[in-house]
Amino acid sequence: MSGEPLLRVSGVSKSFRVGRQRLHAVRNVSFVLPAGQTLGLVGESGSGKSTLGRLALALLKSDSGSVEFDGNQLSSLSDRQLRAKRKDMQLIFQNPLGALNERSTVGRNVMDPLTVHGMGDLEEKTKRVHRMLERVGLQRTHADAYPFELSGGQQQRVMIARALILEPKLVVCDEALSALDVSVQAQILDLLLQLQRERHLSYVFIAHNLTAVSYISDWIGVMYLGEIVELAPADELLESPSHPYTKALFDSVLDIPESKEARSELEALPGEIPSPIDLPSGCSFHTRCPLAVEKCRTLRPIDRMVSPSHRVACHFAGEV
Ligand SMILES: Nc1ncnc2c1ncn2[C@@H]1O[C@H](COP(=O)(O)OP(=O)(O)OP(=O)(O)O)[C@@H](O)[C@H]1O
Ligand SMILES: [Mg+2]
Repeated sequence: MSGEPLLRVSGVSKSFRVGRQRLHAVRNVSFVLPAGQTLGLVGESGSGKSTLGRLALALLKSDSGSVEFDGNQLSSLSDRQLRAKRKDMQLIFQNPLGALNERSTVGRNVMDPLTVHGMGDLEEKTKRVHRMLERVGLQRTHADAYPFELSGGQQQRVMIARALILEPKLVVCDEALSALDVSVQAQILDLLLQLQRERHLSYVFIAHNLTAVSYISDWIGVMYLGEIVELAPADELLESPSHPYTKALFDSVLDIPESKEARSELEALPGEIPSPIDLPSGCSFHTRCPLAVEKCRTLRPIDRMVSPSHRVACHFAGEV
């Protein structure tokens, strides 16, 4: 990926203990995200997108591999250093009401991060909160409202204000639009894009909506059973998907005839996703892949470069 790297994730894995077994949520994932750019992550439910987002923000500790953010290996920072770095890394997720403190006003909610990081006196903080509310399309008077008094779109604007009040460099948006009406989604998406340009923000943008992902992303990574099976510049991935899983996933978008709105939602593919506790041998996708041959069942594919910045983990990439 071109440009100055802000986030460099190298060979990161994370498993969870489930009873006496281990569930492999993220497996050997690597990518580089340049400053000011967006990496979209797509993949079926359970493919590890949220876990990867949390690993990138050091909200979860990886089992192996490294996360380098803004020149620092996050695992080598002390707790105090990491707390200070957190200012630069924020998370916005689906359910703003769950993330906001419902007993505090909107103003207090947006001010909280400033208070936690000891930034400014009350007057300065109030000014910054008012400016931020206006910047995300709300009014100063909203500062005195309570989150439940706002619409879903307004609540998500409050979440964005709260995430950006500390002027972070990286924001992970995890299904940040999913709970909103389609028309509101478009407005929030435009707001995120404007803020990105103004502030040179980097986003990791996780969503089921392929239209939204392709609209905002410079890069798209496709996840399957904890791995990034294909990663490319967004345009290139959309125009020439190479992994059979990516193709099937994109086909699922085009295959739904009835509703225009539903059409952009990535649907589950036919066939069962194997258990992340009991992973398939060889290529993880071979149990559902139309191209699978014997070697796919036994040999794990290594990444192939089908163009200088387009990588695919498939034995047949570039051949079909
Ligand atoms: N704390 C945890 N303990 C055990 N298993 C977990 C935990 N967190 C996630 N998982 C499992 O890890 C896998 C990846 O989950 P993750 O939430 O990252 O997927 P996702 O791609 O974000 O899915 P969705 O699209 O539904 O949000 C899933 O099998 C999930 O059940
Ligand atoms: Mg998720």
